[in-house]
Amino acid sequence: MPRLKRFLSEVSDTMVPTTWWDTSFIPDNQNGKRELRNVFSEANELFATPKPTDLIRTLIGLSSDKDSIILDSFAGSGTTGHAVLKQNAADGGNRKFILVEMEENIASEITAERVRRVAAGYTDAKGKEVPGLGSGFQFCRLSDEPLFNEFGDIRDDVTFAQLADFVWFSETGSGRGRQDAGDTEATPLLGIHEGRAVFLLFNGILGDRRPQGGNILTKAVLDALPPHDGPKTIYAAATRLGPATLQREQIVFKQTPYAIEV
Ligand SMILES: C[S@@+](CC[C@H](N)C(=O)[O-])C[C@H]1O[C@@H](n2cnc3c(N)ncnc32)[C@H](O)[C@@H]1O
Repeated sequence: MPRLKRFLSEVSDTMVPTTWWDTSFIPDNQNGKRELRNVFSEANELFATPKPTDLIRTLIGLSSDKDSIILDSFAGSGTTGHAVLKQNAADGGNRKFILVEMEENIASEITAERVRRVAAGYTDAKGKEVPGLGSGFQFCRLSDEPLFNEFGDIRDDVTFAQLADFVWFSETGSGRGRQDAGDTEATPLLGIHEGRAVFLLFNGILGDRRPQGGNILTKAVLDALPPHDGPKTIYAAATRLGPATLQREQIVFKQTPYAIEV
């Protein structure tokens, strides 16, 4: 592949950087680029100089314990996640990683997709099956604004969908999938997790737009909820149901906002 070569005499008054890494052992950015092209057989030129995983892996090997948590707050093409999985596979470690990427498309289509592929296995650009390194991750999206104000109350402009995402994550440890910020799903039933239905009463989701209307768990509200024959967790501003009714109906009541936590 043609490469631009710059000689010392052409570099005016700046210094050419030197390295104390043994370059016969540590791969360079060209290598990083090849690795990325291999994982994404669809041509990927988004990153001009992705780091080679073996460089990051060597740094991780030198500087971390087997149970360290590695943070990359400029995750880009996801080299760091890839390198952590490789190093764990090499030395039996249980390191975890946190990757932060601010560009939504990059985060979901490159960063997460690369780590997903190398963890689960993929077919490389040459059609060769590459076995997975194992392990996995959770994909979390930060909301544009904090959900709570300085007094711990839910902010006035928080939508049902935003709070629903947060409640679902705190109950299940996973996201509800890609959704618009708007109230796309007009149902208080957020989903069923391991047999338990999770309900959220907020912002008059049952159609009553008065302050607190429909956000208090009463017998009438309970009857109006989508039926679930099994245990239920119901988040609401308050409950008028007594302990005996809650137990009979298999309801765990959680008061918003106090019981919402991750
Ligand atoms: C140079 S790339 C990282 C390359 C990565 N180390 C690799 O090997 O692929 C930097 C990335 O950081 C992201 N970024 C820039 N500022 C950020 C910020 N404040 N928070 C999170 N991500 C950010 C950019 O969108 C870009 O994808």
